[in-house]
Amino acid sequence: MRWRFMLFLALPLLLLAALPLAQGAAAASIFDTHSPSGSSIATLFWIVFGIAAVIFVIVEVALITFTIRYRRRGDEAGEPRQIFGNRRLELLWTGIPALTLAIVFGIMVVTMRGVEAGPVNDPNALTIEVIGHQWWWEYRYPDQKFVTANELHLPVGQPVHLRLRSDDVIHDFWVPQLGRKMDLIPGQTNDLWVQADSPDVYTGSCAEYCGLQHAGMRLRVFADTPDDFAAWVAGQQRGEPPLSGAAVHGRTLFFQSQADCASCHAIDGTTAKGNVGPNLTHVGGRTMLAANVLPNSPDNMVRWLLNPQAIKPGNRMPNLRLSDDDARDLAAYLESLK
Ligand code: CUA
Repeated sequence: MRWRFMLFLALPLLLLAALPLAQGAAAASIFDTHSPSGSSIATLFWIVFGIAAVIFVIVEVALITFTIRYRRRGDEAGEPRQIFGNRRLELLWTGIPALTLAIVFGIMVVTMRGVEAGPVNDPNALTIEVIGHQWWWEYRYPDQKFVTANELHLPVGQPVHLRLRSDDVIHDFWVPQLGRKMDLIPGQTNDLWVQADSPDVYTGSCAEYCGLQHAGMRLRVFADTPDDFAAWVAGQQRGEPPLSGAAVHGRTLFFQSQADCASCHAIDGTTAKGNVGPNLTHVGGRTMLAANVLPNSPDNMVRWLLNPQAIKPGNRMPNLRLSDDDARDLAAYLESLK
């Protein structure tokens, strides 16, 4: 009986011991930060965690000690002796928690101000508009004058000003390694400052439930070296490449009424101006398809075109009832858009 009770008391300690395991398993951990704001958030976490851990240990030790030491022995009967009103004790156990909370509040405010401010007037900052759609991400680079989707590129070491809005419902942009998260709200623009410290691909996911494919609204952020970023921007500013072979027929299908891709998608420099689905100007150059749930390959593109609802049920792209040959030609055209 006593051992079972002790085990119950020790349960929180066991959970605590499992924490490093959970940390190692996470793909995009908030502890593995690669940005100034991410680091200050992680530091805040560890400080608060440290304070909580010390309090936890003190309380647990006292609880277990008192439980064992002052337990009812077999031969004792009746109520234990009642004592009231030790003023020093009362002041102590009101004052210490109040002081602890005040300290936590203070360091939290300092962290929030640092993370929130952003280098607002930094002439070096890059502005990117992020627009949430059910269920994909639109990225507009107003100064560089192009639009892309689902794969966000930014240069390392440079502050980036993300202007967040939504086309439909509330979404939430969260790339844990790059810092804080923020909602994309219809009819409102929110500002989020991010900066990546090292080149890598950072992943995340929409963090506000937004409908059937909420979990299929994934984020991929490519933090490029300045040279790679400049090369990527130059590539995005280029128009349609010269086409050959099956891609020529694929292009005809794209604009013709059966598939009518052009009424929902945009390809810069053509008559395709739709905004229901992602901008496809350079879709062939992306690593993933369907808001980062499907690796980009000609085969996967064909699978997607033949039955988008099988891959992401509920998404806005209908089954176009293409023949296998047409789907292959259309995929050839889209994959040639590098
Ligand atoms: Cu978008 Cu959840």
